Amino acid sequence: MMRFLVTGATGRVGGRAARRLIDEGHQVAAVVRRADAELPAGARPVVADLDDPDTLMVLPEVDGTFLVFPSVQADASAAAVVGALAERSPQIAYLSAAGAQDADPEGWGIMASHARLEKLITESGVRSTLLRASGFAANTLGWAPQIRADGTVRWPYGSARRALIHEDDLAAVGVRELIDHGDGSAEGVVHHLTGPQQLSQREYAAVIGEVIGRPVTYHELSVAEAMAELFGGLPADFARSILTGQAAWVDHPEPVTSTVGTLLGRPARTFAEWVADHRADFGTR
Ligand SMILES: NC(=O)c1ccc[n+]([C@@H]2O[C@H](COP(=O)([O-])OP(=O)(O)OC[C@H]3O[C@@H](n4cnc5c(N)ncnc54)[C@H](OP(=O)(O)O)[C@@H]3O)[C@@H](O)[C@H]2O)c1
Repeated sequence: MMRFLVTGATGRVGGRAARRLIDEGHQVAAVVRRADAELPAGARPVVADLDDPDTLMVLPEVDGTFLVFPSVQADASAAAVVGALAERSPQIAYLSAAGAQDADPEGWGIMASHARLEKLITESGVRSTLLRASGFAANTLGWAPQIRADGTVRWPYGSARRALIHEDDLAAVGVRELIDHGDGSAEGVVHHLTGPQQLSQREYAAVIGEVIGRPVTYHELSVAEAMAELFGGLPADFARSILTGQAAWVDHPEPVTSTVGTLLGRPARTFAEWVADHRADFGTR
């Protein structure tokens, strides 16, 4: 039995990683901000805040860490977090993003944040697994309130093509790497992980409709409509950076890789499979 630390275990990818490690018979300490946080059964809570270096001394010594980092929000603490982990853990599997390789670690924004974390981890001396993920299938949960209400998706850039990935496939790859490299002695690796298909946002909406058994209509918003309807509560610069990212996938679709299948020995899960796993979020008849 090995001991692991998991951050983000109340969230999507970290929660799946903790579940998988426990199911494989390992001990999991989960970093949580609140002692009463809801965790996968069997995970031991360790109360710390990744944005407050003074809280990190409670982190235990482990055989490996699955790190989900609050990108951008906690950037000021990134060096302290990686330093604390490197003292206690011979290896780190880090949930990064496809695109981090092109970002400036000193820059601003989500990709720069991932690039900075990647640099800190690879320079820390621990064995690193960098999980560069494509868009999450779970991003489409942002459509769920509209779909439940009237069966529409009001969103811009319907022809933007993405290779959305199931959160559990990301967790599975990270967990495999951590379990297989417990002593941290092997070379670090970088994995570009995507879903198995490249579909347009319009097609993703249609797949949701097929799986939940109710048609879903895609209503394309202009940029001005999206800024007002969808991102009104966000800082304008941040909202524009999201829209610029979406626009880019119209002419430069997210590529598909076969890495998940190669590493796990089974195909990456399709978007239809992901919807079936999250059917209740979209409302069923
Ligand atoms: N969405 C995408 O398409 C995409 C693609 C590639 C990479 N990513 C990256 O994936 C990561 C998010 O993964 P996810 O979707 O699995 O996360 P998520 O479901 O949004 O959950 C976030 C987790 O981080 C924890 N957290 C937030 N701030 C914290 C802090 N200060 N200290 C300790 N824990 C903290 C939350 O805990 P609480 O319960 O305390 O809130 C929660 O467990 C981000 O780094 C993002 O950039 C996303």
